[in-house]
Amino acid sequence: MYVCMCYGVTDSQIREAVNTQGVGNLRELRAHLNVGSQCGKCIQMAQQVIDTTIIDD
Ligand code: FES
Repeated sequence: MYVCMCYGVTDSQIREAVNTQGVGNLRELRAHLNVGSQCGKCIQMAQQVIDTTIIDD
């Protein structure tokens, strides 16, 4: 499912960034995938995906 419509980023891309590229927070996610750097509507959802991915590990 798409989390960030502005950049076309899906939840699986976010999970992959967390699991394989050491992304642990929104700032790092933005640096990797631009998530949240345009309209910002996706920030809450992106944070949830990061949180649940880290908990699942
Ligand atoms: Fe992510 Fe707009 S939906 S910045």
